[in-house]
Amino acid sequence: PRMYTEDYRPQFHFSPPEKWMNDPNGLVYNEGVYHLFYQYYPEDIVWGPMHWGHAISKDMVHWEHKPIALYPDEHGLIFSGSAVVDKKNTSGFGTDGKIPLVAIFTYHSEEGEKAGRDDFQTQGIAYSLDNGDTWEKFEKNPVIGNNGIKDFRDPKVFWHDDSKSWILALVAGDHAKFYASKNLKDWDYLSDFGKTMGAHGGVWECPDLFPLKVEGTDEEKWVLIISINPGAPNGGSGTQYFIGDFDGVQFTSDQKEPKWLDWGTDNYAGVTYNNIPSNERIFIGWMSNWDYARDTPTKKWRSAMTTPRNLALRKIGEEVFLTNYPLKQVFELTKSSTPKEIVVPPNTSETFYFDGLNQSQIRFKTSSKDFKITFKNSLNETLELALDSESNIFLLDRTHSGKVDFQSDFGHKKHIMPIGGINEEFEVTILLDWSSIELFMDRGLYVMTEQIFPTEPYDRLIIENYDAQSQISDGFIKKVESV
Ligand code: FRU
Repeated sequence: PRMYTEDYRPQFHFSPPEKWMNDPNGLVYNEGVYHLFYQYYPEDIVWGPMHWGHAISKDMVHWEHKPIALYPDEHGLIFSGSAVVDKKNTSGFGTDGKIPLVAIFTYHSEEGEKAGRDDFQTQGIAYSLDNGDTWEKFEKNPVIGNNGIKDFRDPKVFWHDDSKSWILALVAGDHAKFYASKNLKDWDYLSDFGKTMGAHGGVWECPDLFPLKVEGTDEEKWVLIISINPGAPNGGSGTQYFIGDFDGVQFTSDQKEPKWLDWGTDNYAGVTYNNIPSNERIFIGWMSNWDYARDTPTKKWRSAMTTPRNLALRKIGEEVFLTNYPLKQVFELTKSSTPKEIVVPPNTSETFYFDGLNQSQIRFKTSSKDFKITFKNSLNETLELALDSESNIFLLDRTHSGKVDFQSDFGHKKHIMPIGGINEEFEVTILLDWSSIELFMDRGLYVMTEQIFPTEPYDRLIIENYDAQSQISDGFIKKVESV
């Protein structure tokens, strides 16, 4: 049975209890809990004066809602940003031996913007001595002022051991800027990156910078994530990344072409956790797109977050790619007590019926490069996924998936994902919730995340295998009736 019954309420994705949500903010682990702050407007289900909403979790799949953490003040609205655990009390905010949690965010001055000035965004900080329950703003805010840079926002801060400094990445319109500090209050400008690199179809937003080891090696590379709106490969908002190096001052990359973390239309403004004990790099994105975020057909709240995903670097030939793949606990939560084993031989199709399919995991291995997966309901609304080996293109077609006409960009065309590197048998993993689909091919090398609004939940799944040479080995379907 469904745990949440309001139409389209996700069963295993985070959504706010009510009202408007956008970007994840302040992702940080501290004293046994994972914090999820988020861009929040508590008065309406469309974007408005921004606050930081707040939730906590022990496992990143079950969340407890908390009161609003940060309210607008005389410097402006509270836009996106990050949070750190200041273990050495470098900021001096910690009193009585308490370790401060420090949030670094953008102030957006509506007056400044209305007056037509370019300097309306500055960076401020706030601290909490009770693990995020209550917050004090720094009395000398802003900590980074603005001398005329438009779209100057979304600070991501992390501790950089090699330079014994806090490093801050933010965006400035068409590029990223880096700063360093010893105390989170006084910031020195370091460098710029990106004016002539990557995709520039829209403004750069929500940067994140972190090191990762290339899977199976000791080689370390730095990854810079940049959200961009518009200019994504299938329209509107999307997330690109750069693989390179960071020496404590400058990020460099010799990457020529843009690389996309997700080819779907609904994974935006995603960033990673600070201070995770296991040293994993865990990412959460906002599962929407500015093209139609304000128009989706939910009534009480708007939008949800992606499943939490583990990021890794995979080398294919001489090229390094960033993969993203859901955490184990997501698979545990959505797994079936009675998994079905399936085999779909070449040139055949199989249909599977589900009751109330709205929280499901479907996983199979395939060597077929020509297959089609269709989700369908009794109204014949369909969500189609197809792989075509001739063009090496994966297609996601939500044009007939249910409610699509609430906004003209939502359902007007099929979405494509070029898949170059897959040659052998690979895994296809699908997470289907009431109003979203997340597709992971080859353990997160090719990913598509999209919203869907079927009039009734899909209740059948059809797998067609067109590849005469192929075998689907080890194939299985998993579904879940209750969580
Ligand atoms: C990204 C974004 C950020 C900004 C926030 C405002 O979706 O535009 O750049 O800080 O949303 O809510």
